[in-house]
Amino acid sequence: MSFTIEVNGIARSVDVDGDTPLLWVLRDVLGMTGTKFGCGMALCGACTVHLDGAAIRSCITTIDSIGASKVTTIEEVGATPAGAKIQRAWLEHQVPQCGYCQSGQIMSAAALLSDKSDPTDADIDDAMSGNICRCGTYVRIREAIKLAAGPHEKER
Ligand code: FES
Ligand code: FES
Repeated sequence: MSFTIEVNGIARSVDVDGDTPLLWVLRDVLGMTGTKFGCGMALCGACTVHLDGAAIRSCITTIDSIGASKVTTIEEVGATPAGAKIQRAWLEHQVPQCGYCQSGQIMSAAALLSDKSDPTDADIDDAMSGNICRCGTYVRIREAIKLAAGPHEKER
């Protein structure tokens, strides 16, 4: 079947089965490989993208469920105010180690900051608990989110 979805502000038409996960469409059909495959079962967060600004797991989101909702991926999240702040803070704290989980981490953090400009520790725990990092970058992730939400960034 043919589906047209909006990805990073551009309408993209794809010819796939309706139960094809969005992750497969992004990576294999559209060639956008910044979004990663980890578990394929909504357990690791590596595949996180935004659907109308909310963080979702693209490995379990079927293409026929997207409709007119807007998809944002790691390739364009830096164009959003929250995404730009998160990416600057990630660089400043040199968060990534191997990097594999990091696009998903950034997408979850950007959705959090867009929703809550001054997140509490509990908010951060809640938003980030589904994103697993085998390299254990959790401390730097927390510091980077706090930097992105801090007064220095608010003045930009
Ligand atoms: S690949 Fe989607 S949550 Fe792990
Ligand atoms: S940086 Fe290696 S898995 Fe997170």
